[in-house]
Amino acid sequence: MAKKVQFVETVLRDANQSLIATRLPFEKFEPMLETIDKAGYYAAECWGGATFDVCLRYLNEDPWERLRKIRAKMPNTKLQMLLRGQNVLGYSHYPDDFVKLFVAKAVENGIDVIRIFDALNDVNNMKVAMEATVKAGAIASGTISYTTSPVHTHAKYVEMVKELKEMGASTICIKDMAGIMGPQEAYDLVSAIKDAVDLPIDLHTHSTTGLAFMTYLKAVEAGVDIIDTAISPFSGGTSQPATETMAYALRQLGYQVDLDDTCTKKMADYFKGIRDGFLADGTLMPKSMATDTQCLTYQIPGGMLSNLLSQLKQMNALDKFDEALIETPKVRKDMGYPPLVTPTSQMVGVQAVTNVLQGERYKKVSKEIKAYCRGEYGRTPAPIDPEVQKLILGDEKPLEGRYADSLAPVVEDTRKKLGDLAKTDEDVLSYIAFPNLAEKFLEERKAKEENVATYSIVEA
Ligand code: CO
Repeated sequence: MAKKVQFVETVLRDANQSLIATRLPFEKFEPMLETIDKAGYYAAECWGGATFDVCLRYLNEDPWERLRKIRAKMPNTKLQMLLRGQNVLGYSHYPDDFVKLFVAKAVENGIDVIRIFDALNDVNNMKVAMEATVKAGAIASGTISYTTSPVHTHAKYVEMVKELKEMGASTICIKDMAGIMGPQEAYDLVSAIKDAVDLPIDLHTHSTTGLAFMTYLKAVEAGVDIIDTAISPFSGGTSQPATETMAYALRQLGYQVDLDDTCTKKMADYFKGIRDGFLADGTLMPKSMATDTQCLTYQIPGGMLSNLLSQLKQMNALDKFDEALIETPKVRKDMGYPPLVTPTSQMVGVQAVTNVLQGERYKKVSKEIKAYCRGEYGRTPAPIDPEVQKLILGDEKPLEGRYADSLAPVVEDTRKKLGDLAKTDEDVLSYIAFPNLAEKFLEERKAKEENVATYSIVEA
C-alpha cells in the first residue's frame, strides 16, 4: 500500500505571519473556511504565534472569538496553534497557573493540536504546557527548534524527542524556522527520530533559502508523516512551499495524498485575489516571496540579517557590517549556541552589534542578555562561556533550576484587579498576555456595549 503523507495548511497562521505580518483579518479568510475544512488536511494551523498579538494590536479582533468562529465553520479539520512553551505567546516566561489556564481555554475554544516549542530546546520550559495539553484532551506536538552547531547533534535531538514522548507528546514536530535544513540533513534526522520513537513526525520548514521542496521530499523518503505547506498564492519565500505543488509531486512518486484538488483550486483562486490586494497596498513586499541564500552562507536567519543591517544603518555604521557578521557567531558560541529564533536571535544580534561598535566585547550588555546569563531563559544547549558569564554577572550567582518556579501565580490577582472589565477567563488571559493592548480592547468593548444599551433604551 502506498505510504500516506498528510498536510498542515499554514495560510491562516504561518504564511499569513511570514508574508504579511499576520495582517489577514477574519472577514478576509472567512469565505474559505468551509472549503479548507473539506479539503482533507491533517490540520489547519490558525492560531497562536503572532495572531493573538496582532488581533488585539492592529485588527481590533478578540482572538478568542476568532478561534470560536473558525471552529464553528470548520467542524471536521483539526485546528492547530503554535505555543512558545513557558512563554506562551510572549517573549518572557509566565507563571504556571497562566500557562495551564491558557492551554485549557485554548482547547475549550476549539484547538485540537498544540505545537509546543522552546527557543533553547529546554524541555523544562515545555513540560507544564505539554501536560496541560494532554490533560485538556488535545494533541501535544512536542517540537524541536532546529538549528546547527557543534553541540546540536542528531543524538541530542533524539534524546530530546524521547523526553518529549515521556511528557505526553503524541506527535513530534521538527521546526526549521529559518529554512536552513538541507535534504540530506532532513533525511538523516527524520530517520534517526523514526528509529528511536514510534510517533508521527511533522516537518516544518520555510522556503526562504529555496531548499524546502527538496528537504520535504527527502524527509518523506525517510518516513516523515506530515508536512507543513501553504496554498500556492501564499507560498514561497519566507512562507512554506506550495500545498498543490507538494501534493502533485508526491502523488507522481506514488505516495497517497488525501487532498481534494477541487477544494485546493478554489482556495488558490480565492487567496490569489487576497494576496494581490496586500501586494497593491504594500503590506506584502515582493522580496518576501523571493529566494535568499544569504542565510546559508552566514548561517544566520534571514530576518536577523536585515535586523543587523537596519541597526547599523540607524547608527550610521554600515561600514561595520562585515565585522558584525563575524562577531554574531562568536556571541552565539559564547552564549552556548542558542538556536537563533525569537527572542534569542534579537538578543545575540544586538549584542554582536554592540560589541563591534563599542570596540570592546561585553562592555555594554542588554538586560535580556543579563537575564539569559542568569539562567532565566532556561538551560542553554552548551554551557555559557564561563569567562563571559563572569564578566556579565559579576558576583551574582546564576539561577539553579527552572525560572518559572520563582514566579508567583498571576491569574487570581488579575481577575480581581480587572473586576467587571473582564467578563470571562479568556479576557483575563488576554490581559495577562498583553496588558496594554487588552485593556484598551476591553475598555472599547465596554464603551461600545454601553452605547448600544443606551441606544436601545431610547429606541424602546
Ligand atoms: Co514557521
